[in-house]
This record gives sequence, structure tokens and C-alpha cells, in this order.
Amino acid sequence: MQALGVPAVCAGLIVEAGYAGAREIEGVPVWEGLEQLARHPDAAVVIAIGAPDVRRRIADAIADAPVAEPLVHPSVMLGRTVALGEGTIVGPAAVATADVTVGRHAQLHVGATIGHDARIDDFAVLAPASTVSGNVHVGEGAFVGTGAVILPKVAVGPWSVVGAGAVVTRDVGGGVTVVGNPARPVQPSA
Ligand SMILES: CC(C)(COP(=O)(O)OP(=O)(O)OC[C@H]1O[C@@H](n2cnc3c(N)ncnc32)[C@H](O)[C@@H]1OP(=O)(O)O)[C@@H](O)C(=O)NCCC(=O)NCCS
Repeated sequence: MQALGVPAVCAGLIVEAGYAGAREIEGVPVWEGLEQLARHPDAAVVIAIGAPDVRRRIADAIADAPVAEPLVHPSVMLGRTVALGEGTIVGPAAVATADVTVGRHAQLHVGATIGHDARIDDFAVLAPASTVSGNVHVGEGAFVGTGAVILPKVAVGPWSVVGAGAVVTRDVGGGVTVVGNPARPVQPSA
């Protein structure tokens, strides 16, 4: 990965207290407890957690920590007028065309595509191969599932979920889960 064209070095992985996994992953140390950040004042943070609500909780908990420049895989294609917020991760083969704005701590996964004049707000996730058309607004913390398609000029409300493979033809309210083609609200399991 690169941070704005500069190869990024991962100094360590910080996990929450109580994590029972490995102490080292591919040679990168695993540090337990968010307070470990204070020991690494030169490091900048990327929150590599998929769930938008958890990512925001962590971001709030470490609000004083420096956030990394966007982390962008070298295979990504970004138009000249694409703006990415701090802490945002862009995975392999993602594409954003023209006049696209992506907020902070967002995630654009493998092969996600964003059309012109789209806005993706903080903490939102575009899962692999999802397609966001032109003039779409994806609200804060919204999760667009794998292979979902958002038609042009549609707004996906904050903290809503678009199921895998859904085709969203009209605006989705905040905190709603939609599935299917055309996408319709569904009651998510508890
Ligand atoms: C939409 C989603 C969030 C619902 O999850 P859930 O709350 O656990 O819901 P359930 O699995 O209990 O399904 C509820 C109903 O919706 C249906 N459903 C769930 N996901 C669906 C989807 N993507 N498309 C069509 N129908 C779907 C289920 O069949 C079920 O229908 P039923 O009540 O008639 O049996 C989930 O299925 C989904 O698509 N998540 C996206 C996953 C993804 O893309 N991850 C990216 C990984 S990087």
C-alpha cells in the first residue's frame, strides 16, 4: 500500500485489550490496548476494521491521535479531481472517476467503482465490486455490500446497509437495510 504515493510502512498493529491472537503477524508486532498509541508518537493511525460503527467508536476513542494519509493500493485508478479523506483505505483495482469526494476513515474495497460527482461520507464502506454511479451520495457509516449497484442520483442514508448484490433504484433512509433488485427494506436479524 502507499500513502499518497509514498510506500507506507506498518510499524505495528494495535488491538483492543483482551485480544487472544498472535503477538506478531507477518513480522509486524501486535500491540494490545489503544493506550499503546502513546508510545508511538511518530506513527499515524489507520483503523482497519470493516464494521463502520466499530470504526467510528475506535476513531472517537483515539480522537487525539494523528490519522494517516489515505492508504491507496498502487493498482487503484483515481481521477485528478478525486479527494480522499484521512485514514481512508482504497483496495486493489478500485476506481473513482471525476469530482468524487470520499470522507475520513472510509473503505473502498477491491474493485469498487465510483462514478462522477459522487460523495462518500466518513466511515462509509464500499464492499468489493460494488458500483456507485454518478451523482450518488453515500451517507456517513453506510455499508454498500459486495456487488451492489447504486443507480445515478440516489442517496443512501447514514448508517444504512445495502445488501450484497442489491440494485438500489431510489433513495434509502438512514439506518435502513435494503436487499434485492430493486432494493427493498428488510428487517435485519438481531
Ligand atoms: C443484507 C444483510 C446485511 C442482511 O443480513 P442479516 O441481517 O444477517 O439478514 P438475514 O441473513 O437474516 O436475512 C434476512 C432476510 O433477507 C434475505 N437476504 C439477506 N441478504 C440478502 C441479499 N444480499 N440479497 C437478497 N436477500 C437477502 C434473507 O434471505 C432473509 O430472507 P427471509 O427472511 O425471507 O429468509 C446481509 O445478508 C448482506 O448482504 N450483507 C452484505 C455482506 C457483504 O457484502 N460483505 C462484504 C464483505 S467484504
